[in-house]
Amino acid sequence: MAKAKMAKINKAKSSVKTYYNYIGGEWIKSSSGEFFENRNPADVNDIIGRFPQSNAEDVSKAVQAAKESAARWRRTPAPRRAEILFRLGEILRANKERFAAEMTREMGKVLKESGGDVQEAIDCTYFAAGEGRRLHGFTTPAEMPNKFAMCVRQPVGICGLITPFNFPMAIPSWKLIPALVCGNTVVLKSGEDVPLSALNLVKACEQAGIPKGVVNLVNGGGEAGAALVNHSDVRLISFTGSTETGRIIAEACARDNKIVSLEMGGKNAIIIMDDADLDNAVEGSVWGAFGTSGQRCTASSRLVVHKKVYKKFVAKFVERVKSLRVGNGLDPKTDVGPVIHEDAMQKILGYIHIGQNIDKAKLACGGNRLSKGEYSKGWFIEPTVFTDVKPGMRIEQEEIFGPVTAIIPFDTLEHAIDIVNGVKYGLSSAIYTRDVNKAFYAMQELYTGICYVNSATIGAEVHLPFGGTKATGNGHREAGTQVLDIFSEWKALYVDYSGKLQKAQIDTVEI
Ligand code: UN1
Repeated sequence: MAKAKMAKINKAKSSVKTYYNYIGGEWIKSSSGEFFENRNPADVNDIIGRFPQSNAEDVSKAVQAAKESAARWRRTPAPRRAEILFRLGEILRANKERFAAEMTREMGKVLKESGGDVQEAIDCTYFAAGEGRRLHGFTTPAEMPNKFAMCVRQPVGICGLITPFNFPMAIPSWKLIPALVCGNTVVLKSGEDVPLSALNLVKACEQAGIPKGVVNLVNGGGEAGAALVNHSDVRLISFTGSTETGRIIAEACARDNKIVSLEMGGKNAIIIMDDADLDNAVEGSVWGAFGTSGQRCTASSRLVVHKKVYKKFVAKFVERVKSLRVGNGLDPKTDVGPVIHEDAMQKILGYIHIGQNIDKAKLACGGNRLSKGEYSKGWFIEPTVFTDVKPGMRIEQEEIFGPVTAIIPFDTLEHAIDIVNGVKYGLSSAIYTRDVNKAFYAMQELYTGICYVNSATIGAEVHLPFGGTKATGNGHREAGTQVLDIFSEWKALYVDYSGKLQKAQIDTVEI
């Protein structure tokens, strides 16, 4: 190779920024000294940085640091813990633009959506900071005289947090911030495709003054994740990701009686009734199906449309989808960014193939990888719509996690509800209707953790519980005050001030 070219390559390599794990308040290399590259999914030649490839030894160090700082943090009064978290919110707010741009560069979604992701972390931080002055327990009468009974929340201990790629700052914050306000110390294993956003969040924690060892960050892949799940000093694992991995984690946690909270797949649907405002329903469906390139567990991957408006809806929807501009998320003209990596792209293309050749659904638009010109540098797929999809088809049942949606016709609301509920997941659902009776009936019958009326299946707010039924989760809810039930355990307190022995269930008071 020509010398000049070689020099250029070396220079490019050495100009790639190196990042570290954050353990016990120090930024350090992995014990193996190995790194992995973080590349832009819109342009794979763009290397965002080198991040430590961590193993069980790194995880052990991080857990040890979390253990050493646990007593101090637990004993810090919750309102003081919350003050620091409020400062964290201020730091996130001040850096929102930069964090959003760096997120788009590593994850691909359009800049506005990355801004929303950072905003979700800010919202979560402010909400949890308020919780520092509540963390309500309760008092209740005791069954004997001169005896007092109450319940308080106590921290659970060391929490291992394992997060995915699609909400690179919001999802870590949903776990990290409530864990901290409850008085736990944590080890975060960030999504290996989006390590910079988690690192930005952790750096902001450091700047906010969270004491050393309370928040620890380990970068890497499955090896680090598995070590965290299997570490005997970790009391809780909170995981967001695939149902498959979640099940493996839950099984491993069961052996150690760990608390485990899982947020997994979805196959969400919007019902569009014959009385719906169709233009509004089209806009909502486009946003729900193709926002974040369909890579949300809340994505509207099924549109269940009343036969009376089916033709009209499909025509309007497909026309609107064809007008979407696919491209680099940093370009303000882009509507739909790339998907996260080549494997994801191949999986999504595989489902498109299944839709056409096995399910034999009708491909109304899209269906291809975009690979010419600028597109050749990244992982771009055309927004894809299947029509005349029947319940039970694979593209109707399985989570695709990409820019693909399936339109299914129905004739009665009961039928539509059966279709929506007829999958193994139960995260989010929606109905477009102007009929209040139908709206309430659907809210009652749709068996999901979240349900929207006249809005798409995406867009949950942080002060309401987030999670799903069936294979989507294991009964826990993140966000809202409900998340406190994951990151704290109840302690029942009895104070007998009678000055004598009173035996519960035996020394009963005569009336
Ligand atoms: C996810 O896809 O895992 O409700 C989270 C929403 C977002 C969060 C999605 N606020 O779509």
